[in-house]
Amino acid sequence: MGRITIAIDGHSSTGKSTVARQLAHKLGYIYVDSGAMYRAVTYFALQNGLVDHDGLNEAGLVARLDEISLNFGMTDEAGKSPIILNGENVESAIRTLEVSEWVSPVATLSEVRKKMVQQQHQLGGEGGIVMDGRDIGTVVFPQADLKIFMTASAQVRAQRRYDELLARGDQISYSEVLENVTERDRIDSTREVSPLKQADDAVLIDNSEMTLEDQFQLVLKLALQKIDQID
Ligand code: CDP
Ligand code: CDP
Repeated sequence: MGRITIAIDGHSSTGKSTVARQLAHKLGYIYVDSGAMYRAVTYFALQNGLVDHDGLNEAGLVARLDEISLNFGMTDEAGKSPIILNGENVESAIRTLEVSEWVSPVATLSEVRKKMVQQQHQLGGEGGIVMDGRDIGTVVFPQADLKIFMTASAQVRAQRRYDELLARGDQISYSEVLENVTERDRIDSTREVSPLKQADDAVLIDNSEMTLEDQFQLVLKLALQKIDQID
């Protein structure tokens, strides 16, 4: 069976990483959460005083990019592999609302994107990979065999993310989460470098009314069809 490259892009909190992980697990492929990489860089900026009342110190962060080393740890039974920043497992620490509030500004920086894309290419040049993010089908793997673009209404997405943060015990309100989700979409879609947009050859999925199982079955069907065509 051929091992294809699958790119899953879309708006924030649409279920991209959940479906990408399930698919990789089912097909025995590598899964890469590219958003976790941008989040880890943002966490580094927050931990190192590069964000203060004046905002993000862009030049300061760019000057320290060489100090950032990212890896993914061992995959567990659910197909999850934690992101490791300079030897520290930061998988949980990067999911806070504070990181979500600074990640889109960090992700506008071309030097940051260059470093992330280089590493993403090293992880997945050979096929047998599912990567999710914002620019995977357009910039990272424009030759991907299957491209999916996921969206859902902002309210549905904010509610899903709010439920998730609440279950972690984070103290936040639904309106803060809604604002973050819509503001990130705005910055991500309007930035100059690699803006979030649907690739011409991507399949659009609006999962506002789909369960996790519905969306998994749909994406799995598309992947198996593509693998069949290639074999
Ligand atoms: O999971 P969620 O939708 O909240 O976002 P994520 O995938 O963790 O990505 C966090 C942020 O990283 C996005 O809002 C983008 O600003 C940035 N990102 C990006 O610019 N390019 C990617 N390939 C992945 C994420
Ligand atoms: O990676 P992305 O930010 O696009 O989304 P995610 O982290 O996979 O999903 C965000 C949240 O929405 C998770 O708690 C999912 O379980 C939930 N979700 C859902 O309940 N139903 C869907 N159809 C899609 C996602």
